[in-house]
Amino acid sequence: MTIDDLMNAAPVIPVLVLGDRLDPAALAETLVAAGLPVIEVTLRTPWALDALHTMAGVTGAIVGAGTVRNPRQLDEALAAGAKFIVSPGLTESLAEAAIASGVPFLPGIATASDLMRGLDLGLSRFKFFPAEAAGGRPALKALSGPFPELRFCPTGGVRIENAADWLAMEAVTCVGGTWIAGPDDEDLAAIGKKATAAAAVGRKAR
Ligand code: 3PG
Repeated sequence: MTIDDLMNAAPVIPVLVLGDRLDPAALAETLVAAGLPVIEVTLRTPWALDALHTMAGVTGAIVGAGTVRNPRQLDEALAAGAKFIVSPGLTESLAEAAIASGVPFLPGIATASDLMRGLDLGLSRFKFFPAEAAGGRPALKALSGPFPELRFCPTGGVRIENAADWLAMEAVTCVGGTWIAGPDDEDLAAIGKKATAAAAVGRKAR
């Protein structure tokens, strides 16, 4: 799978900061059934790698790791079965290791200098993070001006209320966010409803 295959597989990516209240397999099944097959498990909680491994076995799920900050975490995520890697930022050491591994990789950028470092490394797909705090859609529009060929997945402040506006931007292929399932959520039916609503917004935008 290429990074474009991944970004085109689903317009909305649930970014999961997993608590210990939900069965990871049941959560992944709920998200897939709702129409959100691409799932990012952030490495922010002690059970994230185990949960990622479990979720990677769910039929139809394309599970990756987020909050990957260095090559060691990249290796751990790949060993757990991650099919893509998301990072909050862009470092040479992580980018070079990710590119060498061949895994679809979405590093975070927020400035033109970040983008130029990414271009130097051969990258052209980025997470725009933290999307709303870094200036929202006007900031990404301005940043895209000199780099019209680049494509983005904004995360950070993306919610059901603004997802369609982000997805309407030419530079945006998909969005991600934690609003669909949070660490304190324990109601799978409620998560399923939020996921179904997110998938509907995504379908409309494509
Ligand atoms: C991320 O890592 O992508 C962000 O934490 C997502 O931001 P959000 O919590 O505002 O959705």
